[in-house]
Amino acid sequence: MNAKEKLLNSNDETIKRIKKNIYGTLQTVKIIYPPGFSSVALNEIQVILDNPWSPKKMVGEVTFNNNEIIIRNIHMFFIIELLIRSQSLTDIRLVIFQGKTRGQFDFKKKCLSLPWKYYLNKAMSLKIKINSIASKAFHETALKAILGDIIEEHVANIVSGENSHETTTLYADLYKDKLMLSISLAGEPLYKRGYRGILKASAPLREDAAICCIKKSLEFVKKFQSDFIPNTMIVPFSGTGTFIFEYLQAYFHFSPILFEREYALQKMLLFRAEHFKFLFKKAKENCCLQKQIDTHSTLQILSIDPSEKANISFLENLTTFNSLFKKNGLEPIHITLIKDDFLKINSNNYENIFIPLNPPYGLRLKNYSNPLFLYQNIAKKINEIAFSQKNNGHVLGFILCPNKETWSSFLKYLKQAKTETYHFTQGGKDIRVCQFYI
Ligand SMILES: C[S@@+](CC[C@H](N)C(=O)[O-])C[C@H]1O[C@@H](n2cnc3c(N)ncnc32)[C@H](O)[C@@H]1O
Repeated sequence: MNAKEKLLNSNDETIKRIKKNIYGTLQTVKIIYPPGFSSVALNEIQVILDNPWSPKKMVGEVTFNNNEIIIRNIHMFFIIELLIRSQSLTDIRLVIFQGKTRGQFDFKKKCLSLPWKYYLNKAMSLKIKINSIASKAFHETALKAILGDIIEEHVANIVSGENSHETTTLYADLYKDKLMLSISLAGEPLYKRGYRGILKASAPLREDAAICCIKKSLEFVKKFQSDFIPNTMIVPFSGTGTFIFEYLQAYFHFSPILFEREYALQKMLLFRAEHFKFLFKKAKENCCLQKQIDTHSTLQILSIDPSEKANISFLENLTTFNSLFKKNGLEPIHITLIKDDFLKINSNNYENIFIPLNPPYGLRLKNYSNPLFLYQNIAKKINEIAFSQKNNGHVLGFILCPNKETWSSFLKYLKQAKTETYHFTQGGKDIRVCQFYI
């Protein structure tokens, strides 16, 4: 009997009992988000929890400390809504155990007592990650071996390494003698939405970080103009188009579930297919049709990138994106592709512009061997675009700066702008984001 048959043969009574236990009691989840964007993540969680699609009455206590968001006493229905609706979250982990553990023997005893069948089954391959901080009694390798021995019989196999194809990951987080065991309901991180191909050497920004930058910018503009709505989106250095696709998803309320990627949740015995179908239907209804009709006549999107490879990759992503848009009753999006240097484009005739910028740096800089020169020229180009607008429009934007020098070079040449800077971490690198409104 193969793994799938074994799973299908799982006793109906067992599955019923699992669902009753998981859905009949309130749960705890640990939420992961892009480092530096806690305010965006918290805000998005609150918006979803305040406007649930599930008919159940909402409960849940959201707490935040030490870069960690925990939600306690939350019903599984709302956890799944967060999983399939949120754009800025990276992972949602269902907490299996939380409490004190005094040494390896105690750790083993606790792990042996847990109902692993609720979360694991023979159709899943699993990765184990141990994170032990300030805990003398716990050695990560030893803990991994103990946990692996205990759960081995519940899964198809346990994998490790960067290129493994696990269904999901089981986490054991230890801080001193406090232990939290949790399992990812996403499996593949949530920023892997399913519309983007791989483009080597383009340094694409992670989708979750990209939408966080966009949302922060839309918050920032409210301080100066609460009704600012861009008529034109200009995206220089557009690469694979991450900023454009993430903006469009938010604009049309296109929930990530509609990209039809798989979630680890769907492989678990606790998965309720009817509830998932209901959420899928709700997501479809929620795409904003009226707004789309209005926008199609007004929102102009320009993608600017001189690279042939980047443009091919962008167009492939656009095709996937548009086919999913169409499948959900939305009109395909038209985007003007400008295969040129941003610094050379014509800057006339736009109005109320949104410009998100992620210029190349390091090895990707190519022609601009001096990054300060590039950042200074970008600022000058933005001035030119801002001052040649029609109808006294405004420009809202942000630029990712890899260091202090590029950041100050950009600011020095930007004219008459209101600005605000924040930091976030991308691939271990500290990025300064300068937001501007002219
Ligand atoms: C850091 S990446 C941007 C990645 C993009 N945010 C994404 O998610 O794919 C740099 C991109 O800028 C493009 N580029 C380099 N110089 C440019 C220029 N002067 N004008 C417009 N695009 C440029 C490169 O071809 C490359 O695709």
